[in-house]
Amino acid sequence: MYTRYSDELIEEIRINNDIVDVVSEYVRLEKRGKNYFGLCPFHREKTPSFSVESGKQIFYCFGCGKGGNVFQFVSLAEKLDYIESVRLLADRAKIVLPESDDTEQAEKAKLKQLVLNINLITARYYNDVLNSRHGEPAAAYLKKREISGNTVRKFGIGYSTDEWDNLYQHLRSEGFDDEQLLQSGLVLKSSKSTLYDRFKGRLIFPIFDVRGNVLGFGGRVLDNSLPKYVNSPETPVYSKGKHLYALNFAKNSDSKKLIVVEGYMDVISLHQSGINNVVASLGTALTDSQGRILKKYADEIVISYDADTAGQAATQRGLDLLNEMGCSVKVLTVPDGKDPDEYIRKNGPDGFKKLVDSALSLVEYKIKVLRSEQDLTATEGKIAFLNKAAIVLSKVDNIMEREMYIKKLSREYEISEDAILSEVMRRTKPAAKQSLKIANAVEAARKVTTAGDEIDEKLLHDERLILSLLCVDNSTYKTVKENFNTMFFTSAENTRVAELVFSRLENRRDFTPAELLDAVNPEDTGKFARILKEECYCDDNRRAILGKIRDIGVLKAEKRQKQILEQLNDKSKLSEGDVDKLKQELKDMTQKMNNIKGM
Ligand code: CTP
Ligand code: MN
Repeated sequence: MYTRYSDELIEEIRINNDIVDVVSEYVRLEKRGKNYFGLCPFHREKTPSFSVESGKQIFYCFGCGKGGNVFQFVSLAEKLDYIESVRLLADRAKIVLPESDDTEQAEKAKLKQLVLNINLITARYYNDVLNSRHGEPAAAYLKKREISGNTVRKFGIGYSTDEWDNLYQHLRSEGFDDEQLLQSGLVLKSSKSTLYDRFKGRLIFPIFDVRGNVLGFGGRVLDNSLPKYVNSPETPVYSKGKHLYALNFAKNSDSKKLIVVEGYMDVISLHQSGINNVVASLGTALTDSQGRILKKYADEIVISYDADTAGQAATQRGLDLLNEMGCSVKVLTVPDGKDPDEYIRKNGPDGFKKLVDSALSLVEYKIKVLRSEQDLTATEGKIAFLNKAAIVLSKVDNIMEREMYIKKLSREYEISEDAILSEVMRRTKPAAKQSLKIANAVEAARKVTTAGDEIDEKLLHDERLILSLLCVDNSTYKTVKENFNTMFFTSAENTRVAELVFSRLENRRDFTPAELLDAVNPEDTGKFARILKEECYCDDNRRAILGKIRDIGVLKAEKRQKQILEQLNDKSKLSEGDVDKLKQELKDMTQKMNNIKGM
């Protein structure tokens, strides 16, 4: 790869971005042996075939064949080019890059840190106010809503008095200037250019990220006045719809299920009742970014929104996205239009758990919504409903699942199963062929390639394996040098990479697998990642390399044998002398192969 940054700088960025940590921000990983496994973020799957190896700092998916180092992971995950992913990871590691636009990046990182500091001080301040004499109205309100002191502490709940600029004055006394405070969104500028507090007379809920940073705040009035909530605006650290409230707690719950509710009070109330696998999306609709975060932390998502919000197109999109990513998505509707907080206070945790257990699958939910939109007593209504339901069902990939829904629909609406099925089939894409496994496709391709190509492929592979082993274990360089030469590599590409690796090792500098993945042609990254992952594990790398060098010798001999045989098949073009020479060479070749094999 061609970068404007020095190898050293790239290496520093790489070292400061452990691949397991970085991938963990996108994929929920489970440790098995020295590997981590998770669901591949790059193709849809239900059982994990995506692996990350900490030692080699690489990832590889056995399902889709994608692999690489931490930069390549970020490129794929964030759809960035290589340099952009280097920048992103530099930013993540707080490494300042030596360029004008990167000073900009560094400035941004500094600003973020500043706002986080202001937020932290603010959260403490509001919590202190709640615990002081000035916080009495809020304390009384919390008591009325049965929020315990422990819960207040856990969620860092606070109170902003109904004054003009108490927080502003406090933050000024902490040394922040007006410009900085405006960036935090916690203060606003009046028409007279004086600054005043955004939150007044409100219960304050700090919004934490998974690491416990305070990103922003929500503030609720203590009565029925409007607006009920005031929230932090967009700031360098907070964006609406990008975070999930209480994920910092929910991520530690043992459940593989995450329940998503709408509001602060629902989360707080459920956590207080011991149901701690709950987060809130804090807005109206579930966004794509929130969907991606959820996918990382759970296999099963239960959405508990009020009926209106759950039915909104935006939320449906978020749910479809989750479903496409391989999550099981369920929809829970609390009876009588209540919200989870009210429900649990009335029916207790067990009552709520029953609701969770009886949540509808996404398909069932969609059909239920469709039904509510049509008048099923009228024939047209029934037909319109059947048509729309067929579209929903045609998107269910699992045939057994689809059949189950069809049976259910048939029973409930007295429509024959055949009628529904034919409507569904009419709408299904010929997707079966499309989803043919990549592995099968490769197998099929292999079968049609000629034997000669197969030898070339094997040669290229064995050469890649030698290069990979060299990077996994730099001490094998001596062995390689004694037995192999960069000139022996068969493709221009492998020769190029070999020259790079050899020259670095020649100068007694190390060369890591992650660096190798940067050095190779982007098209080959997956191949190298697979080799590094699957074939570089033995205890004796020296022997493995010698073995491969021998294999390469055999393959080259075989290749030459084939060429000779082909030439001999078409003797018309050859003179007597040529034929004899070729036959002799063939004999020598066979002898040589036997020698190598007997080595
Ligand atoms: N919300 C908001 N602004 C509003 C109303 C609501 O940002 N004007 C967001 C808040 O994040 C709120 C969520 O939408 O928590 C759900 O709204 P609602 O159900 O009205 O609030 P609750 O948190 O349930 O509050 P409460 O039970 O105290 O009425
Ligand atoms: Mn509520």
